[in-house]
Amino acid sequence: SVFQATTSAPVNIACIKYWGKRDNTLILPTNSSLSITLSQDHLRSTTTARADPTFTETTLWLNGKVEDIKSGGRLERCLAQLKKMRRERIEAKDPNTPKLSEWNLHVASFNNFPTAAGLASSASGFAALTSSIAALYGLSSFDPSKPSVSSPSELSLVARLGSGSACRSLFGGFVAWEVGSSPTGEDSLAVQVAPQEHWPTMHALICVVNDAKKGTSSTSGMQRTVETSALLQHRIKNVVPARMQAIEKAIKDKDFDSFARITMADSNQFHAVALDTAPPIFYLNDVSRSIIAVVEELNRVSYEKTGHLVAAYTFDAGPNAVVYTESRNVKQIIEIIVRYFPQVESSPFPDPFNLFSGSQ
Ligand code: DP6
Repeated sequence: SVFQATTSAPVNIACIKYWGKRDNTLILPTNSSLSITLSQDHLRSTTTARADPTFTETTLWLNGKVEDIKSGGRLERCLAQLKKMRRERIEAKDPNTPKLSEWNLHVASFNNFPTAAGLASSASGFAALTSSIAALYGLSSFDPSKPSVSSPSELSLVARLGSGSACRSLFGGFVAWEVGSSPTGEDSLAVQVAPQEHWPTMHALICVVNDAKKGTSSTSGMQRTVETSALLQHRIKNVVPARMQAIEKAIKDKDFDSFARITMADSNQFHAVALDTAPPIFYLNDVSRSIIAVVEELNRVSYEKTGHLVAAYTFDAGPNAVVYTESRNVKQIIEIIVRYFPQVESSPFPDPFNLFSGSQ
């Protein structure tokens, strides 16, 4: 028989940003974070994992190209943890079950979006890798009649070993990654704050400003920030804990105005912290800043007229914007972004204007 499983995981976009590690090996963060996972039919990674006693080595293909599996690296730690769970929870309990944990793996992962697009491909990638191997090993049952032997939060601990933000893609909807306090990391896991159906009118518009690969990687950038930024220490202690509480309440209440204010403020503080790093890190470009100005102006006009905001921008470690808005405003926001940037066919936007409507 063939031992193989295929699963998908979507990209998630943080509203409260993860930036800084207290442990670089276990990938333990300096603050909690919160994100929205895009729906399965938008930006996602799909991974197939196969175990076979005849495989002479473990191989990973990313979009068809063989990836180097560094000894002692993140990928190896993820695989070791999944094998340990398979041994302890499945093989040790049933001597007749095949010892998949002793066999090599072939893992093939594909993104349905360009990897170079500067969009969070490591988050969906490590989440899909973790869930596919967990399914292969019988750790996560997708058959509701069968009991599963690991929870999504437990699997988030494994995905976290691959890339911090990946732990949040194990859940759909609104997801918190709790900072935790244990030095071994068992309480630094993802939990679902609310499912997607709780607030189905929430949309994420992914605006690709520049699809070139970013200058400073998240991993090295945040390490430099931890080493040099005093503003980060203020953010960790005095800002994020209150913001986490406030945004969770905004989500529970479906209070878009509060959600939007917190999301924009946190994106801006994250980029301020990047600038406070020595040497400074610049992720936003002129187009990013123009998008901020347009959304701020839209919100100002809307607030004067209706007392409510219409959109919230957020930017990760690159110039691309994600604009959160509710269903009734999606058409207007897309039209306005296109109208305010008539240079859309020429530079600096790629041609064609690449705006995914990532329905939540
Ligand atoms: C700005 O998860 O890519 O997107 O843990 O080193 O793999 P590593 O970093 P990564 O960092 C993501 C940073 C961010 C904010 C966020 O997603 O919360």
